[in-house]
Amino acid sequence: MALPPSFLDELRARTPMPSLVGRRVRLSKSGRNWKGLCPFHNEKSPSFYVYEDSFHCFGCGAHGDAFAYVMRAEGMGFMEAVERLSGEAGLDVPKATPEAAAREARARDLHGVLEAAEAAYRRRLRSAEGADGLAYLRKRGLTDETIARFGLGWSGGGRGVLAAELRELGITPAQLIEAGLMQPREEGGASDLFFNRVMFPIRDRRGRTISFGGRMLGEGQPKYVNGPETALFSKRRNLYGLDLAREGVFRGATLIVAEGYMDVIALHQAGFTGAVAPLGTALTPEQLEALWRVSPEPVLCFDGDAAGSRAAGRAAEVALPLLTPERTLRFATLPAGDDPDTLIRKSGAQGMQSLLDKAQPLADALFGLIAGAKLPEGPEARAAIRNRLAAAAAAIPDKALAAEFRGALFNRFFAQSRRPGARAAPRHPRPVPDATAIQAQRARLLLAICLHHPDLLREVEEPLALLDLPEGPAKQVRDALLAWIPRAERLDSVELIAHLEKSPVSAASAWVLRPAGLPMEARSGAQPKEALDAFWQIFGFLRGEAELAEDARAAEAAFAGSNDPAAQARLIRLRAALDALRRGEVEDEFSPA
Ligand code: UTP
Ligand code: MN
Repeated sequence: MALPPSFLDELRARTPMPSLVGRRVRLSKSGRNWKGLCPFHNEKSPSFYVYEDSFHCFGCGAHGDAFAYVMRAEGMGFMEAVERLSGEAGLDVPKATPEAAAREARARDLHGVLEAAEAAYRRRLRSAEGADGLAYLRKRGLTDETIARFGLGWSGGGRGVLAAELRELGITPAQLIEAGLMQPREEGGASDLFFNRVMFPIRDRRGRTISFGGRMLGEGQPKYVNGPETALFSKRRNLYGLDLAREGVFRGATLIVAEGYMDVIALHQAGFTGAVAPLGTALTPEQLEALWRVSPEPVLCFDGDAAGSRAAGRAAEVALPLLTPERTLRFATLPAGDDPDTLIRKSGAQGMQSLLDKAQPLADALFGLIAGAKLPEGPEARAAIRNRLAAAAAAIPDKALAAEFRGALFNRFFAQSRRPGARAAPRHPRPVPDATAIQAQRARLLLAICLHHPDLLREVEEPLALLDLPEGPAKQVRDALLAWIPRAERLDSVELIAHLEKSPVSAASAWVLRPAGLPMEARSGAQPKEALDAFWQIFGFLRGEAELAEDARAAEAAFAGSNDPAAQARLIRLRAALDALRRGEVEDEFSPA
């Protein structure tokens, strides 16, 4: 049955090989890829490598994509494998209609048309009429090898010369319109889209030509003409150079996203074989997905001027909702007015390399894009920036990653506010000496929460123990509480309070439990979640910002070392408390009126 290639591409994209193969073969990480014992022949040491979209056995030579894998592993036919994987990916297999079959036949034909056009353009570049074009490319520093690798050509002078040439191969003007090489004329017939231009074949990820860009010689408008959307070519789904970059990255190159055709070509020629560019538009979500299938951390290059930073901001905005812990971006900033092509001409591959080495992680770039070079001083402007930082982090769907970004962005905000020379930030409520009463009340609330909800102690015992409380009833109750925990059979509020009433700290415990001034969250009827939230908010105020930040760092290290869910919960809580404290949003909520 004829299945549209776009459907198979989509299905491949939705079927990551490592998880497919991982069900039956024990895989271990090998660099960016995975390896394991080959399921298709007997072996003792692993030579079966699994990449994002293919597998290869260096022992028996078996290789292929997800379909090939399922066919071999399950002994299925192609259609069976497609159906199985579609079911798992939640896609419907398109029905084999005559229209679909016709569409596919046409697509196959279109590839042939574009291939024939590319050959014609390449031949013209080497003929007398292409002399100016060839001289132009050479003047821009391209070698013959580069010109051949990218399939550059010369359009000819228009007026139907391409149609005339291809007619001999049985290709009709209607097909040239479908391929995006001619446009229908109102008065009938068709005219060339490209004439007197240097031609850049645009290829899909598998290296098949799907459209062209054409550059005029020298200055003028429009500088580039690009093919229109066709059955084969979608601007938002393809990237110039991706076919070559996949191979380059496979061999160790960095995946670089530049702005233009000439940048990609200059980068490749200078040895940066992982270079690609979008097709004259801002990066789309589809393009980002395509990039991440090749590398977990592509580097985006942007011009150092205002337009460049707007473009970087747009790219970050598109990327945030798509981020996962496994895929991110870095940002390299070019000197204002340079693109990779001009930079390489001026400072060589070395200059480009040092720019890539300095590429910023996404969180840093994001902070710069939102906060600018220097934080403003007015409270309104600063608040606006904080809101935008918070919104940027909130755009990340992965909860843990969003919390990381939030923490990282706010840390930068406050670090910059406190830089020597910078105006002292309005530091939030470090206890002022005459605020002893406020602190005592906060400690009372914290303990009231613990007495009414001792089950929370599973999470908060350690922070509570570490809290630096002044001598007084709060400290007495806290210490008695901590002493009780290991002896308690269950963390039960009634039992705990009864125990304290009979203990030497009964007066202090009565002071804690006095109803006056206890907000809902600190009373016995509160929902555990409200009580827990209140605990962390109050804890943040008692502890103070610097210490809280320190706690968060310690919790982060503990979590990284242990992967323990309790440590993770504490980390998330501490971060939230820190954010709340820094925003000042809970300042008055739990203070005595
Ligand atoms: P640039 O104007 O930065 O051009 O456009 P460039 O790539 O540096 O080209 P050279 O060095 O002047 O030859 C970046 C990209 O924007 C699209 C093209 O994809 C181009 O590569 N573009 C630009 C157009 O589609 N049309 C235009 O008229 C200009
Ligand atoms: Mn350029």
